[in-house]
Amino acid sequence: KIYPVILSGGAGTRLWPLSRAVLPKQLLPLVTDKTMLQETALRVADWPELMAPVVVCGNDHRFLVAEQLREIGVAPLGILLEPSGRNTAPAVAAAAHFLAAIDPGAVMLVLPADHVIERPDMFAAAVRRAALMVEEGALATFGIVPTGPETGYGYIHRGAAVGSSVDGTDGCYRVDRFVEKPDRATAQDFLRDGSYYWNSGMFLFRAERFLAELTRLRPEIATATEAAVRLGYSDLDFCRLHEDSFNACPSDSIDYAVMEHTERAVVVPADIGWSDVGSWSALWEVQQRDANGNSQRGDVYLDGVANSLVRAESRIVAVIGVQDLVIVETRDAVLIAHKDQVQRVKQVVEHLKSTA
Ligand code: GDD
Ligand code: MG
Repeated sequence: KIYPVILSGGAGTRLWPLSRAVLPKQLLPLVTDKTMLQETALRVADWPELMAPVVVCGNDHRFLVAEQLREIGVAPLGILLEPSGRNTAPAVAAAAHFLAAIDPGAVMLVLPADHVIERPDMFAAAVRRAALMVEEGALATFGIVPTGPETGYGYIHRGAAVGSSVDGTDGCYRVDRFVEKPDRATAQDFLRDGSYYWNSGMFLFRAERFLAELTRLRPEIATATEAAVRLGYSDLDFCRLHEDSFNACPSDSIDYAVMEHTERAVVVPADIGWSDVGSWSALWEVQQRDANGNSQRGDVYLDGVANSLVRAESRIVAVIGVQDLVIVETRDAVLIAHKDQVQRVKQVVEHLKSTA
């Protein structure tokens, strides 16, 4: 049985000033009229082979998450509450311990809550192919054919082919290596090379297999999260992870902690119209745009503007004679940036934090 595990813990700082600590991007209706968490939960709601999802989120977001799921009629198997953010490896590990206790054969489909997938049917097909390899003990990643030298993603270099045409897993590969967020020149080389995929950050594996690899590679994370689940307590749908145990867990991403080191990693290429909407330019890419290439939300007046994203939350925003800009107005902060420089929005948030 496959259990979706939805990670809803990031801060989405590159989408400041819309995305804030109290209301991060996955809990906002950014692309459609549903929030990204709701889109993610609905995407996996109607497949016969999938069970109810497990959501992992920060304790502060528990009511928002529960309410957003209720709104779309999704009843979660559990909502695991992190007392503090420890990045994705502990979040996935806690879900693995939680699921393995319920169903020793549980297979987990790890899904970040903030992705856009334009072709859900292709995604379902990729998951089914991955499931065949997971039966054999693989830890599967979904690889996206890169469309540009993005520096905000991890890259996967494919190794030997592993699939077979008999069961339909042909076209899958062993992972040769992971390269997390390369610089632009390296990303350009990868693109030319043609044997690299973007790491989508979505994974499929057996919970017990993942825990076995984690215990071998990062025993401290495996032990701390095991205690956090065992000593945690349930109320309603919530499972509060034990605070001291979880806080004592080292912080690390699943990529660095496990996927980069395990010999069992395979990559399933997935042509699914994927974007992680990690930045304002990525959001511009996936949004509806008018004939001048502008995506606009709210009370906006444009004259002679091209290829820009303009979003007004609380006031009228008038823009004249510019192009390739991102302009985001909120009640207490305004962002104006060149569309090619939006990765640097992260530094604004760091600056604000350090001077607060
Ligand atoms: N529950 C929980 N707790 N979720 C978390 C936490 C946490 O402490 N930290 C991050 N997440 C969630 C985020 O909300 C996001 O959906 C996902 O996990 C990935 O975390 P990011 O912080 O957004 O990672 P990234 O974008 O820098 O890089 C990862 O994702 C890329 C694709 O989107 C890496 O896996 C890259 O290799 C990959 O290309
Ligand atoms: Mg991300």
